[in-house]
Amino acid sequence: MRIDIFATSVIAAIKAVWSRGSPFAAATALYPTNEQGKYVIQSEGIRLAFTNNGGALANLWINDTYGNEIDIVMGFNSAAEYLKYPGNPFLNGVIGRYAGIISGAEFELDGVTHQVSANSKGPTTWNGGKHGWGRTILDIGSHTEDSITFVLFDRSWNGFPGTAASCLTHTVTPYEWRIAFGATPTRKPSPINISQQVFWNLDGFAANSSRTIAEHRLHLPLSGLRIETDAEGIPTGDLKANKLGSAYDFWSGDGKLLGRGLEQLRECPASRHPLSQRGTDGYDENFLVVRSQPWKKEDQPVASLSSDHSGITVDLYTDQEALHVQTWNDAFGPVSLKGTQGTGVVPPSGAISLEMQDWTDGINNPEWQRRGKTVWGMDRLYTTYSSFKFTVK
Ligand SMILES: *[C@@H]1O[C@H](CO)[C@@H](O)[C@H](O)[C@H]1NC(C)=O
Ligand SMILES: *[C@@H]1O[C@H](CO)[C@@H](O)[C@H](O)[C@H]1NC(C)=O
Ligand SMILES: *[C@@H]1O[C@H](CO)[C@@H](O)[C@H](O)[C@H]1NC(C)=O
Repeated sequence: MRIDIFATSVIAAIKAVWSRGSPFAAATALYPTNEQGKYVIQSEGIRLAFTNNGGALANLWINDTYGNEIDIVMGFNSAAEYLKYPGNPFLNGVIGRYAGIISGAEFELDGVTHQVSANSKGPTTWNGGKHGWGRTILDIGSHTEDSITFVLFDRSWNGFPGTAASCLTHTVTPYEWRIAFGATPTRKPSPINISQQVFWNLDGFAANSSRTIAEHRLHLPLSGLRIETDAEGIPTGDLKANKLGSAYDFWSGDGKLLGRGLEQLRECPASRHPLSQRGTDGYDENFLVVRSQPWKKEDQPVASLSSDHSGITVDLYTDQEALHVQTWNDAFGPVSLKGTQGTGVVPPSGAISLEMQDWTDGINNPEWQRRGKTVWGMDRLYTTYSSFKFTVK
């Protein structure tokens, strides 16, 4: 019996190497998945499941204040369903080699113009292009009880210069999920910006909750500023103040209920994000994280999200200096709840993502002096660390 399973795995491994041409494809085929095709990691109080389709986080289970185990992120029941999702990345996937927008689908670096894959109107390169990392089947370098590492060799994929070898590691410790992303650029410098967008609903869409994030409290203690954008969502180069008491004030006091913020956006259309004026309701903003110097990422969370309904709070610690906050808006069509979450679809504002990153479009706004955070060469290793710490009342 055992030998049979082993033989089957070896055949799968050989097939994988043959079809994907990566040395890690063999290792990938040897790591076990659960019956939904997902890779599970766990520690005290927390259990996560990933798929290697875009390295997406598919489930995050935690016990609420009543002791019910709930799944507090959006996702799909089986790993295979991710491949049908039209978005870039696959829902809750990693974003790379360059997250965000490259307008004109080209950029100039040291006098050379690089054409990169256009996958949006304009033409524009969005989240790394047509075959961005989040729309790629990733290999697994290692998988243990409490960690998983996805590996990839991006050999000028999507027209980016040089090769980027990357390790994307997720680790769990009691009540904590840690993310460590690294990339080694070889041969040529390249813009690099790796991120992961996860849509949260801290009530796990429980039937007796509002099923939206309206009653979630958001606190962004270090975000008194945000980046101004034009009607296409492209930064204008200017910054805006999140005035005390405005729809964008999540810094004062202990933050505010998101329902109140959404109401303020509706009451005052002029203050709404240009994208939301075009029909998508909700937040889609780049908040800056401004700390007094010197700082350590462990000192203070950049964001705190909590729900009284489930008693769950998540605090985000990161070394990044901006935070993209987006409320779920069905941009790629409705997404069903997972079997573990109930029936029906995720309603608009049913979830929220807190995406740690650098100042959006830094490559085209030299006056911000973010080049050192945008272009990475052989002289430095790109790394980014974040951790989500959970507490349950
Ligand atoms: C939730 O609590 C049950 C019972 O104590 C436990 O078996 C389970 O592992 C907990 N779930 C998580 C995600 O820790
Ligand atoms: C919601 O339902 C769960 C069981 O499904 C229960 O344990 C919990 O007490 C309920 N919460 C509220 C606020 O009624
Ligand atoms: C990095 O990626 C994020 C996430 O998609 C994006 O919003 C941001 O603009 C990017 N950062 C830079 C410096 O372009």
